[in-house]
Amino acid sequence: MVWNLSASFRLAGSVAAAVTVLCTTVVLTQAEPSGPLTPASVRASGQTTFLQFCAACHGIDGRGMGPVARYLLKDPPDLTHIRSRRDGTFPREALESSLLATGPPATAETQDDMMLWGPLFISMDASTDAARVRVQNLLDFIESIQQP
Ligand code: HEC
Repeated sequence: MVWNLSASFRLAGSVAAAVTVLCTTVVLTQAEPSGPLTPASVRASGQTTFLQFCAACHGIDGRGMGPVARYLLKDPPDLTHIRSRRDGTFPREALESSLLATGPPATAETQDDMMLWGPLFISMDASTDAARVRVQNLLDFIESIQQP
């Protein structure tokens, strides 16, 4: 009787493990429909990418006072007010395309003094899809620091 009980617990455990593996596979498959992700882009949280690549100019809090800011011709904008500067709309799609752009930027006014990030992210993350995951995480972080 005892043996049967523990056997059925073991069976339940195996089923749970199988379901976990299955669910994880489904979640991973949905997160990345085309092409493999490199571990680098999966690991990189938006805040990590921001601190690594943006904070030198825009500041660790995004307000524009990074240590490099004083050496630039133009002041880096305060990234915590992107939404309020645009009447309450966070321009996610426009920012995504500019951060993944590989050619001449579409809007020279906002991009002239800033580096083109597409070539770097795409080469670091091994594919455009993987770089898009990094940029989505980055935009989640920037959206999360928006001030009223
Ligand atoms: C070398 C300094 C520097 C770095 C590094 C940098 N930026 Fe910038 N960024 C600027 C400057 C300067 C501008 C203003 C450009 C202009 O007005 O022509 C700007 C503009 C922007 C804008 C436009 C804001 C608006 O409201 O129009 C966004 C968004 C932005 N940067 C995001 C980022 C992100 C994200 C990163 C990191 C991946 C980053 N920047 C890294 C200097 C930098």
